[in-house]
Amino acid sequence: MIIIKSVEEIKKISAACKIVAEILNEIERFIIPGVTTEDIEKLAEKSIYDKKALPAFKGYRGYPSCLCISINNVVVHGIPSKNQVLKEGDIASIDIGVKLDGFYGDAAKTFPVGKVNETAMRLLNVTKESLYEGIRQAKSGNRVSDISYAVQRYAEDRGYSVVKAFVGHGIGRDLHEDPQIPNFGRPNKGARLKSGMVLAIEPMINEGGFQVKILEDGWTAVTADNSLSAHFEHTIAVTDNNPKILTIID
Ligand code: MF3
Ligand code: CO
Repeated sequence: MIIIKSVEEIKKISAACKIVAEILNEIERFIIPGVTTEDIEKLAEKSIYDKKALPAFKGYRGYPSCLCISINNVVVHGIPSKNQVLKEGDIASIDIGVKLDGFYGDAAKTFPVGKVNETAMRLLNVTKESLYEGIRQAKSGNRVSDISYAVQRYAEDRGYSVVKAFVGHGIGRDLHEDPQIPNFGRPNKGARLKSGMVLAIEPMINEGGFQVKILEDGWTAVTADNSLSAHFEHTIAVTDNNPKILTIID
């Protein structure tokens, strides 16, 4: 069941989303060669509590951290570690969720570490644009798979593959609510979108094949062919006009 949120509820989700966006901004300048992913986790953790919010991922099904930090061939759910040092040319996806006043916000962004090569930069740009293509379809009257189709077409037309094993989701009082939002599929399928729905749209795009595998830690998802992968996510609200992106600072 897809929960329609009231104006008051969307205000609360927006407040959580604002914190997520602020923290992604704050940590950007620390995503540089020589820093460990654990260092970034600690900065984010402190900031979440300073802002009187709670981490959404830590403890979720046993996940150990506030952030998912997914480097290069890691697709999603990379666990921050003191042994993982960022190096020039890496790409680092940072995924963060927080809970504030009973409501969640969720966003992700892939950052270049120092100077990265042109092919990696292109993957980042196409993944980010595929997210915006999806968001553009998130309007009342459209259906869920109009988002899916727009993401897939944009990425595949440019020679990339879309990950099928993980999907976007509704969000509100729970981190994961209905509907599931795949990043692939034929248009005009699934639930009809209505004003008041709040969705986390999150394409994961690979340079090589779409297949992923999970490492022995039970979390880290990597590309099966070890190709690069990028991930961008925004929480948005469906309105009677254009979708409102909540995980930005305005
Ligand atoms: N943005 C991801 C999601 O919506 C991150 C979840 S990490 C987890 O599923 F640890 F919470 F699972
Ligand atoms: Co999400």
